[in-house]
Amino acid sequence: MEITYLYNEIQKWLDSFPKFKGDETLNVKEEEIIAVGGEFLDKMKDNYPFHHPLYAGQMLKPPHEVAIMAYLGTMLLNPNNHALDGGPATAKMEKEVVSDFAKLFGFNEYLGHLTTSGTIANFEALLIARELAPNKVVAFSEQAHYTHSRVCHWLQVPFVEIPSNNFGKMDISSLEKELQKNNIGTVIVTLATTSLGALDDLKEILHLQKNYNFRIHIDAAYGGYFKIISQYREQLQVFDLISKADSIAFDPHKQGLQPYGCGCILFNNPAVGKFYKHNSPYTYFTSDELHLGEISIECSRAGASAAALWFTNKLFPLKSDFGIGQILTKTIDATEDFARKINNSYFSLYLQPETNIVTYFPKFKSASEISKASENILKEGILQNELWVATLKVKSEHFQVNHPELIVDKKWVTILRSCLMKPEHKDWVNDIIDGLNNLTAPQKI
Ligand SMILES: Cc1ncc(COP(=O)(O)O)c(C=O)c1O
Repeated sequence: MEITYLYNEIQKWLDSFPKFKGDETLNVKEEEIIAVGGEFLDKMKDNYPFHHPLYAGQMLKPPHEVAIMAYLGTMLLNPNNHALDGGPATAKMEKEVVSDFAKLFGFNEYLGHLTTSGTIANFEALLIARELAPNKVVAFSEQAHYTHSRVCHWLQVPFVEIPSNNFGKMDISSLEKELQKNNIGTVIVTLATTSLGALDDLKEILHLQKNYNFRIHIDAAYGGYFKIISQYREQLQVFDLISKADSIAFDPHKQGLQPYGCGCILFNNPAVGKFYKHNSPYTYFTSDELHLGEISIECSRAGASAAALWFTNKLFPLKSDFGIGQILTKTIDATEDFARKINNSYFSLYLQPETNIVTYFPKFKSASEISKASENILKEGILQNELWVATLKVKSEHFQVNHPELIVDKKWVTILRSCLMKPEHKDWVNDIIDGLNNLTAPQKI
């Protein structure tokens, strides 16, 4: 199927309107396009092959072709999901997908919409947290995404960073000590962390909520989709408790096969809509129905983004044993397989992975040797155009608890990190480990 299928069909619909001649100021000669195209394509080669299974580094993967198809077709019209006046069809699609996600997370009553990113989704959650608990402190783990401290600065909300335990999860007794000060309004629970893919202990945090009065926001920008397969892995059962939280941010542009520009925020209490209240003298005329701009801090938003997600979710439903669920299961299988095999190489596993991020390090003895070798592997893989991994800095004191043999000659250890987010990674685990060994062998461990 041609990727331009929907584009061509939508073009036919556009052509059904009275013909008009495009203005001459918009004309571009084909040879000019080709000339600039050459320059553009040269520039684009300064990239890494994010689409390939040998790219096993950061949270990057290309969107599915069906998402591109719908995005491309919708872009011909470029609807704006701010108001029904700007994008009636795609606003309906947005409402439909948001309702499906609310069902998935068990939010019976909800208010939510797509955002351009996880950052904006979390921003909205913290904005509402501030309005509901003015002057109260927001607590999150030191492993939480850096976006939370930035957003708290912007919103002028006080915050406290809770130490993490040796598994990269928020330390529950440290959280309780903070709660005893009686000033925490919201606790942010990360499912899963950007660094280790670790899952904060939502069950324990809900226990604490019985004794202390605070709201819970879930940052599941990376991991939200794992709710779909929570029954298949014991460690994922924590996702079944999300229905008890006040809000959740998650990113279809991470695990959901979407191009960038697709995050989502959901609140389990529609009444928070009052904090978004504003009037627009320009829009909101064509219908009394809810315009998504009325419950969003962003104004213009790409209708194409909602269209791509709607189309993808129809073809890859949010089901556990087919559609998206099948893809996620393969990525977890790949990660677990990698974790089983990596110790029989020049590398050791750092921590047992909980999701589809795995961390490991070259078998050196000291923090400085491990760091140097890890940085070399990252650079050499790129230089030799063979393997793309990522690095992660871990506190030596945490590292040593998990690997007591470490000689601590530095405060931090740089180790290696791979997000195995593509289903194809399942068949490429051996190749990735072979690639790592080839890059390490010359260093004569
Ligand atoms: C846990 C978590 N929160 C928030 C973000 C920020 O999301 P975005 O990059 O979509 O703004 C990320 C991105 O990696 C993340 O992993």
